[in-house]
Amino acid sequence: MSIEIKGLGKEFTQNGQQREVLADVNLTINDGDFISLLGPSGCGKSTLLNIIAGLEGASKGKVLVNNQVVTGPGRDRVVVFQEAALFPWLSVIDNVMFGLKIKGVSKKEAHEMALETLKMVHLSRFTKAYPHELSGGMRQRVAIARALVMNPKYLLMDEPFGALDEQTRLLLHSELQDIWQKTKKTIIFVTHSIYEAVQLSNRVVLMGTRPGRIMKEFSIPYSQPRSKSDPNLAYIEGQIFDELKEEIEKVMREEVDHDYHVAPNNLPWSPDRDMGSHI
Ligand SMILES: Nc1ncnc2c1ncn2[C@@H]1O[C@H](COP(=O)(O)OP(=O)(O)OP(=O)(O)O)[C@@H](O)[C@H]1O
Ligand SMILES: [Mg+2]
Repeated sequence: MSIEIKGLGKEFTQNGQQREVLADVNLTINDGDFISLLGPSGCGKSTLLNIIAGLEGASKGKVLVNNQVVTGPGRDRVVVFQEAALFPWLSVIDNVMFGLKIKGVSKKEAHEMALETLKMVHLSRFTKAYPHELSGGMRQRVAIARALVMNPKYLLMDEPFGALDEQTRLLLHSELQDIWQKTKKTIIFVTHSIYEAVQLSNRVVLMGTRPGRIMKEFSIPYSQPRSKSDPNLAYIEGQIFDELKEEIEKVMREEVDHDYHVAPNNLPWSPDRDMGSHI
């Protein structure tokens, strides 16, 4: 059981012009992997995730999930986006139960499953609250619970913590590590943060731009939970930064400033270890 991406290409037409957004992407995602897709803005991370989710079609090549070509969305693949798209008129528990009810699960069983999942994301005390009464981090926990309760084989996450403050993000990192250990889900995680990728994943796939493609892969063979100050992780972060530097400069020169340079620093690492909007 695995996801195989074979010779994948994607073109978009913009203003009558064809643009190659992904070119010859080949990747095998094994069951139980926590794989991060990391790369400069516009390199096609979300497009790749959406193609795996079946929300977007491929122009070339294919994605196989357990040897079946992906032709559309499926219950085995659930996506969590940057902004939790909760139903504002439903309480937390009803948001989490929503998909189960559609699937035909009885109300009683759906309620029990939702409670159990909300416990996992530490929201047991907020089951009756409405989305507008929650913080951004709590809303994102509900979105994760809503995805997990469907028991998908693959959890696809597109910058799920990108809009959160640093403290909430760190908290959710450890919760997600916990969830990964407990549920053994296969997680495909798009991020801008080298730190986040190295802390959470067992594989980090670096993508380059114009056209979007896979540049390199790093294996992070250290057990969880990981320490923020582990020198082994800092070393890998430095290596990844070196690999990405040229790609970041390429994007910034084309989009912002012809003379753009990423400041040379004494690696490992820049102050907050997060390239933020640079990549
Ligand atoms: N529906 C679309 N129509 C036309 N072009 C698109 C469409 N969706 C994405 N693109 C283009 O494809 C490229 C890749 O976009 P994508 O959103 O996958 O990048 P990304 O790596 O996720 O970027 P970011 O890190 O900023 O989220 C971009 O240049 C974008 O403008
Ligand atoms: Mg994106």
